[in-house]
Amino acid sequence: MARYLQKKNVSSSEKRNIRKSIVEIFSLSIKFKKNLVIYIMNILITGINRGLGLEITKQIFSRSDSIHILGTSRRLLKNSIYTFGIKETSSLKVESVELNDPKSIQSFLDKIINSDFLPDIVIHNAGVYPGGSNPIYNPEIIFQVNFYAVKEISDKLIPLMKKKSKFIFMSSGMGELSQFSETARRKLLNPNISIMELESTIHDYIHNRYTGWPTNPYSASKAALNTLCRIYSHKYSDKTFVSICPGWVKTDMGGPSAPREISKGAETPVWAVFHTKLKSGLFYRDKLKIPW
Ligand SMILES: NC(=O)c1ccc[n+]([C@@H]2O[C@H](COP(=O)([O-])OP(=O)(O)OC[C@H]3O[C@@H](n4cnc5c(N)ncnc54)[C@H](OP(=O)(O)O)[C@@H]3O)[C@@H](O)[C@H]2O)c1
Repeated sequence: MARYLQKKNVSSSEKRNIRKSIVEIFSLSIKFKKNLVIYIMNILITGINRGLGLEITKQIFSRSDSIHILGTSRRLLKNSIYTFGIKETSSLKVESVELNDPKSIQSFLDKIINSDFLPDIVIHNAGVYPGGSNPIYNPEIIFQVNFYAVKEISDKLIPLMKKKSKFIFMSSGMGELSQFSETARRKLLNPNISIMELESTIHDYIHNRYTGWPTNPYSASKAALNTLCRIYSHKYSDKTFVSICPGWVKTDMGGPSAPREISKGAETPVWAVFHTKLKSGLFYRDKLKIPW
């Protein structure tokens, strides 16, 4: 190029244009390199105001500065470090979402889609249980928060998210299929089960028309969540979907007699965030695969 520019028959305006293009290409490549160095990972975490969601958020920030978290809470966290042990910063934004209300979920999703925050990882952490300090007994609410909210958010975000994005479902050993009848277990483990079939079984279970599932709707909702994880992992092979049981943890849900500290319960979901070769379609506890 330099020799071409020295040629006498190249006009000075042509030389000027060529030099301008070289400068432009050079500065673009510097910008590109800079982008590679400071790549920011976006993570969406539901239920970050307490319990495992709060601890997962803290542990992720303690491992990396190149992360932006959008957390959901029913109450906003603005300047509330003393209440929640965490507050909004440029790396942590919080949106208020009531997962028991499909309209609230929809307006939250509309906000995300119209913002510049597209998650690389989604941690579906928020959940309800018929025990602990905030017990919820109504099976419809349990399924709405533990299953349908997860499905609605995932269905909307999966097509928008990049290849290799991750979905982490906070599940529970209480959803293991060993408590299900043989027929119910076979039905859920069938690799060809569709989301429609799963939803129709849930509908029958909630309205007492389906037997073979455990009577505790929490166990049933987590087994349904695990089935959703398997269905997604078959359907979207370019992304990673995992279910994680944190163990029995001392949170408002787990209660004070739980043997596990919150820091230990958050370990495996945080490991899954940073693990570069995480296998999709599996159920994990303590960083090891466990049976469905
Ligand atoms: N703790 C355990 O022993 C244990 C064991 C196995 C699995 N898990 C799973 O781990 C996850 C976190 O549990 P945790 O122990 O941290 O529970 P937690 O202390 O009770 O916290 C639950 C979180 O979910 C949010 N949430 C509940 N209902 C909601 C709703 N309708 N709309 C929006 N957010 C809602 C709560 O927000 P609010 O503060 O607004 O209620 C809170 O942030 C859950 O999915 C749970 O099933 C826990």
